[in-house]
Amino acid sequence: MIVAIDGPAASGKGTLARRLAEHFELRHLDTGLTYRAVAAALLAKGLPLGDEGVAIEIAQNLDLAHVDKTVLSAHEIGEAASRIAVLGGLREELVRLQKDFAAAPPGAVLDGRDIGTVVCPDATVKLFVTASPEARAERRTAEMVSKGQEAEYASVLEDLKRRDERDSQRTVAPMKQADDAHLLDTTEMDIETAFQAAVDIVSQAC
Ligand code: C5P
Repeated sequence: MIVAIDGPAASGKGTLARRLAEHFELRHLDTGLTYRAVAAALLAKGLPLGDEGVAIEIAQNLDLAHVDKTVLSAHEIGEAASRIAVLGGLREELVRLQKDFAAAPPGAVLDGRDIGTVVCPDATVKLFVTASPEARAERRTAEMVSKGQEAEYASVLEDLKRRDERDSQRTVAPMKQADDAHLLDTTEMDIETAFQAAVDIVSQAC
């Protein structure tokens, strides 16, 4: 069983993916972390984000079990990840890794931008999780403040819109709802309501 979850930043897809994986006893991969890990390694080496040769090499040596999620959650890393995500050769490498993860038993929940369209086009069930940019910016600002980070709503909103634009307009594997994906708009939902709605959708599909 494979559950494919796509959607923009701060839509709630990550939390839903993690909780669905627990609920249905599946493995979980946040594919954004794979892009973040490569971006962070390029930044650490002081290399330009467009250096696809090195990016591919880093991807080939990526050990999913040992990526440090807390370090990778930084805002600048998300921005850098979105910049390298336009590189077609790098995507091929990371998609291979993600497909391998999805194929291993007992099945998995994967979340990202191109799971239902590219990584797992034959997934058992697909969800496209979204929310208005304003609702997402409010959530992201509150999350950053709760971690003691500086965050200003207006600039968080601008950053999210810019990232949405880049992710949905790129030529390779742009973020988009697969034709057979269920749309889950969480703008007016708290996380519990969204989770119940997602469980209902997945339960009906399996
Ligand atoms: O989901 P997260 O914010 O961690 O993703 C960081 C960036 O990685 C996204 O803005 C997107 O450009 C890229 N990404 C992608 N395809 C995925 C997952 C993430 O292009 N499947």
